[in-house]
Amino acid sequence: MIEVKELVKRFGNITAVDGISFDVDKGEVLGFLGPNGAGKSTTMKMITCFLAPTSGTVIVGGKDILEDPLAVRRQIGYLPESAPSYPEMTVLEFLRFMAEMRSIPRGEIGGRIEEILATTGLEEVRHQIIETLSKGYRQRTCFAQALLHDPEVLILDEPTDGLDPNQKHEVRELIKRMRHEKTIILSTHILEEMEAVCSRAVIIAQGKIVADGTPAELAAKSRYHNAVTVRTRDPQAAALREKLQLIGGVNEVEFTPGQDGGPASFTLFSENNRPILPDVTKFLETHDVAVEEIFAERGRVDEVFRNVTQPVA
Ligand SMILES: Nc1ncnc2c1ncn2[C@@H]1O[C@H](COP(=O)(O)OP(=O)(O)O)[C@@H](O)[C@H]1O
Ligand SMILES: [Mg+2]
Repeated sequence: MIEVKELVKRFGNITAVDGISFDVDKGEVLGFLGPNGAGKSTTMKMITCFLAPTSGTVIVGGKDILEDPLAVRRQIGYLPESAPSYPEMTVLEFLRFMAEMRSIPRGEIGGRIEEILATTGLEEVRHQIIETLSKGYRQRTCFAQALLHDPEVLILDEPTDGLDPNQKHEVRELIKRMRHEKTIILSTHILEEMEAVCSRAVIIAQGKIVADGTPAELAAKSRYHNAVTVRTRDPQAAALREKLQLIGGVNEVEFTPGQDGGPASFTLFSENNRPILPDVTKFLETHDVAVEEIFAERGRVDEVFRNVTQPVA
């Protein structure tokens, strides 16, 4: 549905986007991740035809942004960074205005807006001036605008930025409800957000792609992938450490003594991240260790994110 090809954007001598290529299939929710200044917004502005690339191009639903920008824009709903709108209009006035801009036939505008107000939960504030809305409602108003023409593709630039946890949750639920019908690219630097809603993530740093995979594939690059953590109140816990090290396949054991009456904890890392939970469980049973909690990790995306986005010192 979206093909980004060798995309480059320079501002003077700053290269904001440095040869990015990736595809997004229909029905995918692609998380576009990266630290501040990585080039996420600039890439999104090029996909939505708000900024011309220095070189490279993007094909959206078979249309090239350079050859047919109008056809591209028709297919896309765009929520820009910091959700700008017209603060002095009411929600309804703004959506009517945007519907007219989108050339939605007059006879359809009313019905369409009612649908969108319901989808985005804006019915009760429809007559309120946008400026007087809370940040969450302003964000949703801008989101509503992006949905007016029922686009196939949604480009959402940090859609939950600045929202409180409840509002973040609502916006994520909204995205989840739409993910089966639309192709979505959403930028974020919130890793739980990516894990909660995205089917795939592309991580960029300094304008270049540094990782691309499903949330599980990214987590598997972590040193914690398949690591086993054991919590125990065994008074001899500290003495267990060397024994745990002897379990086949375990190559490192970290020990954290219990604090404030809490349990002590061990984290066992395995060779090549192979699964060791059954071996560890068996060992603990054999040695009669009273275990309070034991679990294997999928991996920590935050660690992977730091590893791939931080320039090596
Ligand atoms: N209009 C512009 N003029 C000059 N530099 C810009 C402009 N827009 C973005 N940049 C620079 O390009 C880089 C990428 O910015 P941006 O795409 O906004 O990053 P992100 O959205 O990932 O935080 C940054 O270094 C930013 O300062
Ligand atoms: Mg940005």
